[in-house]
Amino acid sequence: MEHVPVLLEAILSMLQPAPGRTVYDATFGRGGHTRAFLQRGARVVALDVDPAAEAEAQKLLAEVGPDRFCFHRANFSDLEKVAAKEGQADGLLLDLGISSPQVDQAERGFSFQQSGPLDMRMDPTSGTTAADLVNNLSEPELRNLLREGGEDRDPGRIARGIVRARPLATTLDLATAVCRATRPARPGAKHPATRTFLALRRAVNREGETLEKALSAVPKILKVGGRMAVLTYHSAEDRVVKHWIRGHAEEEKREMGMAFGQANPERWVKALEEVVPSEEEISINPRARSARLRGAERLQEEKK
Ligand SMILES: C[S@@+](CC[C@H](N)C(=O)[O-])C[C@H]1O[C@@H](n2cnc3c(N)ncnc32)[C@H](O)[C@@H]1O
Repeated sequence: MEHVPVLLEAILSMLQPAPGRTVYDATFGRGGHTRAFLQRGARVVALDVDPAAEAEAQKLLAEVGPDRFCFHRANFSDLEKVAAKEGQADGLLLDLGISSPQVDQAERGFSFQQSGPLDMRMDPTSGTTAADLVNNLSEPELRNLLREGGEDRDPGRIARGIVRARPLATTLDLATAVCRATRPARPGAKHPATRTFLALRRAVNREGETLEKALSAVPKILKVGGRMAVLTYHSAEDRVVKHWIRGHAEEEKREMGMAFGQANPERWVKALEEVVPSEEEISINPRARSARLRGAERLQEEKK
């Protein structure tokens, strides 16, 4: 399935791509958002760890040329290094998670709907696979991974079921082990393996750690007045972004009990309005279902 960019209009109005402005797309994917930034005249600096994203970016580079677009096959935890080379940003987009083509390619191992190797690496050229984790972690380690990464309701039972079913080679082996270990899903409920797959994908790609690292680099990346937009697809990820923004955002004066006009030097971003997709967008693009967009604008120098 082609990847349809999520909440495109809201992201455009948040990041305001225009001639003379540089927008970082830290999760290029298939370039859906990037193309719209370019159409509005911005220069785009794109990153992705996936070689398939790089191949797509090479085509785009041939179309628009290096003055308008560049691509780094890099993890967004290294945004600071990229920004040191490419300059600071007027806008920064993080569209977290995986793209539709990644889900749809059985050999990437992200989907329990089709059989594929238990891989789940966004960069399939390096690192630990999901098979390494499910076959080698101890039962308590697996239980913790499932509890923390996907908020599985019964992580102990699922961890036990996985250990019993070892060795697991394919996505269907894992989905079957999870189904055997859990109660049958109610009609219309999510597949019982949804959270297990999410937890493993997050662990394989160190998603919590890389997001924290990218957020901590924001003061080095964004110009004063620059804006960040982050699209998340599950509650654990959204909580990290929400707390980061709240932790750095100007507090409302009444909450602080401060006189109006008194600035707090620790607070150096302004939180932007939160957006979720409309029913109409979800009906056209069901993968937008769980999306949530948060944004922040940089106000001043970060104070230590
Ligand atoms: C949801 S897709 C982005 C889709 C894109 N906005 C579009 O419209 O085509 C997320 C992309 O981010 C990439 N990605 C995920 N984590 C990453 C990380 N830590 N560093 C760099 N790229 C990452 C994935 O490989 C995937 O291609």
